Parts: sequence; C-alpha cells; structure tokens
Amino acid sequence: MCGIVGYTGYAHAANILLDGLERLEYRGYDSAGICVSDGNAGHPLKAIRVKGRLQALRDLTDNGSSVEGTSGIGHTRWATHGEPTVENAHPHLSGGRVAVVHNGIIENYMELRETLKARGYTFQSETDTETIAHLLDYYDKGDPLDAIVRTVMHLRGSFALGILFSDRPGEVYGVRRDSPLIAASSENGNFIASDVPAILQYTRNVTYLDNMEIVCLKPDGISFYNMDGEPIEKTFTTVSWDVEAAEKGGYAHFMLKEIHEQPKAMEDTIRPHIRDGQIVLEELGMTEDEIRSINRIQMVACGSAWHVCMTAKYVMERLAKVPVDVDLASEFRYRNPVLSPGTMLMVVSQSGETADSLAALRYGKDQGMLCLAIVNVVGSSIAREADRVFYTSAGPEIAVATTKAYSTQLAACYMLALHFARVRGTMDEEAYAKHVEALTRLPGQIGEILQGEARMQWLAGKYANTRDAFFIGRGLDYASVLEGALKLKEISYIHAEAYAAGELKHGTISLIEKGSMVLAVATQKDLLEKEVSNIVEVHARGATVLALTMDGNYAMEDEADFTVYIPRTEDVFYPSLVVVPLQLLAYYVSLSRGIDVDKPRNLAKSVTVE
Ligand code: M6R
Repeated sequence: MCGIVGYTGYAHAANILLDGLERLEYRGYDSAGICVSDGNAGHPLKAIRVKGRLQALRDLTDNGSSVEGTSGIGHTRWATHGEPTVENAHPHLSGGRVAVVHNGIIENYMELRETLKARGYTFQSETDTETIAHLLDYYDKGDPLDAIVRTVMHLRGSFALGILFSDRPGEVYGVRRDSPLIAASSENGNFIASDVPAILQYTRNVTYLDNMEIVCLKPDGISFYNMDGEPIEKTFTTVSWDVEAAEKGGYAHFMLKEIHEQPKAMEDTIRPHIRDGQIVLEELGMTEDEIRSINRIQMVACGSAWHVCMTAKYVMERLAKVPVDVDLASEFRYRNPVLSPGTMLMVVSQSGETADSLAALRYGKDQGMLCLAIVNVVGSSIAREADRVFYTSAGPEIAVATTKAYSTQLAACYMLALHFARVRGTMDEEAYAKHVEALTRLPGQIGEILQGEARMQWLAGKYANTRDAFFIGRGLDYASVLEGALKLKEISYIHAEAYAAGELKHGTISLIEKGSMVLAVATQKDLLEKEVSNIVEVHARGATVLALTMDGNYAMEDEADFTVYIPRTEDVFYPSLVVVPLQLLAYYVSLSRGIDVDKPRNLAKSVTVE
C-alpha cells in the first residue's frame, strides 16, 4: 500500500523523509520518491524518484544528504494506475510549481485528464495522481487553501494528499477523503504521514485528520481548516504503540487488520467501475463484440483464487449464461484440455506470480486463447502476459492467509458477470439495476458483519480443540465452504474439509459421529430446504452444527446448535458476506491454539515454484 510522509522544520528534510518511508516499507511498494523545497520562493520543485527499493533512492541522494532543504514530501508507491516505473512514481509535479504525493484512487481521472489536456497541460505519467498536481496548479492563484478546496471538489474517489507549492517554501499541505492521513508535531518540526510508524522515531504527538479536513504545516506550527477555508481545532493524542503494533494499525496480526480492511478494499475495487448505475469496465479494453463472441470461459487458479473461480462459475453462468469450466492451474495444462474456439481463458491471482497459474496462462496463450487475468499486483508476470487485465484494489496483502484479496477477486468476478450479462442481453434492466445496487451495498454489509466479531471469537473458543471440521453447502454455498475450510486448516492446522452437502450421503457421512463439528452455510433460497435436510442428517448423528444463514431465517435455530446471521443480499453475492465470519472463525481458532497466524508453517505468501 502506498505510504506518505511530509515534513517541515529545522532539520535536513530528505533524511527525515527517507527514514519515514523506510518505516512504511513493510506495507509493500514498488517505487519511491521525494521532493524537497530548497527554501527559495518560486524556485522550481524537483522530484527524485526510483523504481524498486528505497535503497536506490538513498544511493541516488547520498542517503538524503545531497538534497538541500528543510521541507518536503515523500512517497512509497504500490502501483494501481500504470505500471511500476520511474515516470509513474510519486511525487508528481505540475511545471515545477506544485508537487503532490497521493494515496487512494481517483475514479474520474480519465475525464479530468481530458479536461486538463484541453487546457494545455501535458502528462508525463499514466497515473491518476498527476491530474491532481495539474488541477492544483490550475486553481492556484496565490492562495493554497483555495486551490486545494477547488481541486478536491473535482475529485471523485479516495485520497490522502501531501502537497508542496513552490512559492510557499517551508509549508507542507495535506488533505484527505477515505484514505488515512495524520499530522504530528515535534520540537524539531512537524509532519504529515499516512501511518503512525512513519513518524514514531520523531514524535508520539499525533492527530488524525477527518474526511475533507486540510492541514498546513509550518516549521513552528500546524493549522487545520475545513472546506470553507475556516480554521478548525484538532485534538492531539499520544500514541502508545510500539513500532510493531503501529505497523499492524493496532491489530494483533496482519490477517486481522486485512479482514477489517475488506470494506475499503471492496469499495476501492467496485466504486471506480460504477457510473450512473452501470458497470463500466473501459480499462479492461474488451469491446462489446469481443464479449459477445465468447462462447465458453475456462477459469484457472490455485488455492483461494481457485475458490473464487468456483464461485464465478455459478455467477457467470446464472447471470451471463456463458458456460464456465474451472480447473486447478496445476492440473489444467497436464490434462490436455479440449479447448473449443471462442473459449476465453481467465486466470485469477493475487500475486500475479503463482507459478502454476502463470504456466496455465502461457499454455492458454500458446493455444491461441484470449486470456483475461484478475490480478492484484500491478505489473506482475500474469498481468504483463495476459491480453486483458482486471486489477483488484486490495492493496498489498501481507498475511499468508488471503482475505481482502479473495474478497476483491469475488467483486471483480461479479462485475464481469454483470457486464457480460448486460452486453449479451441475458438480464433484464430491472434485475441488472437491482444487482448493481446490491453490489454497492456489499462493503457496508461486510462492515456490519465485522461488528459481530465478538460472537465469532466466542464461537471459535468452542471449536478450538476440535480435530476435524466438516464444511457443507449447496450451490454457491458449496463454493464458499471450500474457502471456509481452507482458511481454517491453513492457519489452525485443524483437519477441515468442504463437501457439497448433497454428497454427504455418498460416503462422508460415515465420518460423522457424536461431537463432530459441522459448519453449514445456507444462503441460497432455492436450495434452503435441501440444505436443512442435510443439517438434520448430520445433527441426528451427533454432530454439533454451526449454521450461517441470512437474516430472518430463524427456522434454522431449530436445526443448528449455533446460528450466525448475515445481512440479506442478492443470492449471487452471499459468498462475499459468508466468507467474513468464516475468516474470523479461522483467525480466532488459530489465535487460541497459539499459532503464528500470519506465517503458518510450511506456507509461503506467493508460490513461485511448481
Ligand atoms: O497469489 P495467488 O492468488 O495466485 O495465490 C494463490 C494461492 O496460493 C493462495 O490463494 C493461497 O491459497 C492462500 N494463501 C490461501 O489463503
């Protein structure tokens, strides 16, 4: 995830910026840069940027000491718009008069880019951020606050910004909406930062900006303003976290932090693609003719990403009426698949580097297939080699067990299915509109589920000593329990298996005995009665049943020992809601078993060998 640091004061700014950025390295990044004002009003601002590690920036600047000046901004970038290159690295400049660093996503940057080009601005990067630098320049008539207010009024999306104006040496500005930004004060100067660890070595005295608040740092003080340009008061607090706790945002583990980041990650993935009630996927670069010409989809992936494909199969077939086959990437190319013309290959991968998924993609390309990838890491191998790419906006995921990347992959699949359905005319307008609306509600509903965390923690206590857990579901719920079982086994080391509930009686039910743990997911209206019968079957054989079902389905309490309710949505979207309690359950079981949640044994975050 991108990181921001800004400083003004009495010390050498470049050193402080580099140290601050180093403290944000754990978040992951692919390029970095700083811009320091030399202290002379009107002197053009210059950015120093590198692709790759911060060390390259240190080498280029003699550890910062070759850059004169006592105020500046710095950034570590996790690519979203445009590949990781020097040109796309921040800070971005507008004619040397304005420099900007940015976290977040500007949804309307394409429109803004066109408007600014028409006003004579030229662009050096592919980023959404450069539009902000030019907008600030355009509105800067000598009053920085006014320029900031006018600029942010034109931005759709999320942002935390650090800003320098060349004619305001010694001043650093910041503003935010839906992306965090803090301000901090010390005797030696003042700071802005996206995260606490960046400033902890200098001060613990911080305040958290609220949405649409502006901060102006000067060496001897900090001022805050609202969007009317009026001064506001902010309360400073003393941060008591150590560096390790600060890196995890106060959460005990990255996994828990990432579970809680899901509403934001979903919002960031979905919102830029919704305009006037329609799914817009122009960045995918697929024409409507191309979409109509696809007569089959072959999906490949590994692990949790494969579970996403299992979900996507149901959703794509139901909404867009395109037949979908799903293969484990490690199996696909070795089974000599028969691939009919018009079959599109879809690869799903968080890292974009998973060896089996990459090999499957290459196999598909060799067969002449059109290849679409859903990837989180911009510029990764799979993203580079695929013909079309749908980027998820989960940000970097650090815990080995995937949570927010999985959720955003689901969101990408939903949007593709809805888009294909509209283009291919397989959904009527009313159903389409209802689904788009329900999609936009998912981030908030995930937030609601997270409020019930304590109950999942309590339930985890009951499951912590179990030896085996059976996860059952039908239809889309079967796809969800595949992920639930993997989450539990990979971080708790409890043997957990997922079964299509209807399959139980063909063998597995012989394992069910008094005390067996069964987790049943029941959200699909048409399959509810049948799923309840399966729950009754296992209950009658002595299993303890935890059921996950939708709000209002209270009849479930007659059959299950514990019931967890999730908010109502369209049937195809339940996997996004169901997975959250399952993640929490796995997390708290792992915690109570004393396991290293973020780094479970024998596993790596990215599996780059076959
Ligand atoms: O980076 P990828 O999405 O290609 O990784 C695929 C799997 O290795 C990954 O989903 C794995 O199963 C997760 N650690 C499970 O939590």
